[in-house]
Amino acid sequence: MKPVRIAVFPVGGLGTRFLPATKAMPKEMLPVVDKPLIQYAVEEARAAGIEEIIFVTGRGKTAIEDHFDYAAELEGILSNREKNSVLTELREIPGPPGSIAYTRQQEPLGLGHAVWCARHLIHNEPFAVLLADDLIKGDVPCLKQMVEAYEQVGGNILAVTDVPQEHTNRYGVITPGETKGNLVEINGMVEKPDPAVAPSRTAVIGRYILQPVVLDILDNQQAGAGGEIQLTDAIAKALTVIPTHGLHFEGTRFDCGDKAGHIMANIAFAIEREDIGPAVSQYIARLQLNA
Ligand code: G1P
Repeated sequence: MKPVRIAVFPVGGLGTRFLPATKAMPKEMLPVVDKPLIQYAVEEARAAGIEEIIFVTGRGKTAIEDHFDYAAELEGILSNREKNSVLTELREIPGPPGSIAYTRQQEPLGLGHAVWCARHLIHNEPFAVLLADDLIKGDVPCLKQMVEAYEQVGGNILAVTDVPQEHTNRYGVITPGETKGNLVEINGMVEKPDPAVAPSRTAVIGRYILQPVVLDILDNQQAGAGGEIQLTDAIAKALTVIPTHGLHFEGTRFDCGDKAGHIMANIAFAIEREDIGPAVSQYIARLQLNA
């Protein structure tokens, strides 16, 4: 079984839900406390053993490239001021030289299309896909849990969680088969089904380990839900040839593509911080008293 060394990060989306904040800034650079969403996702990937990172970007996303580079002038100033701990933190962000590649999705044709745009950089190996909007907080990084599951059962592994019935039309939803511990066999998948016809309320969250055959299927994948080329549809087609499991991961997922979810993530991460946690917790307690 080949190890999972490569991760694809589709970061070409326009972020219209966060306008005007995202007018001149990629949505993946929105901070949770003081770290951009994309950095959380990259750190999660590296903690799971990922060596090569592929960003599928689009126009207006150069801030992401700059973030994952050295910042000579800034670092010079921090060094003169002997701000050593923040300097060390900044120097770690890019990772080893040459470990990040960028390709562009020229048109917003869907998640499946974005992943397919990375096909020439994936050398017939299994690969991970991480959607930075889905921020997962937990003791063991979500992708690491998935890699451990992959080492047991192989095939395709998707992160799943149960969502309220009325939210099925926001997600890829699975037809569950046999369940063993945290792993559920996937017998079918459909993108954004109406709650009335959803096969279950077990939804796919933005973490995938996929076999390269999914890219071959994407070569010919037609537009599906929302007129977009859907990753879900390609994974569904692969079900006959690739065993596919959902992992009910341990951790809390925040939908940071949604304003409320993003605020909740900020609160959850803030209250655990030594520096600002007490002040934020006090403020929340005060709000509760006044409610
Ligand atoms: C994408 C996928 C969907 C998945 C979701 C998880 O949808 O297409 O299957 O459930 O991410 O966040 P999007 O949120 O991009 O509409």
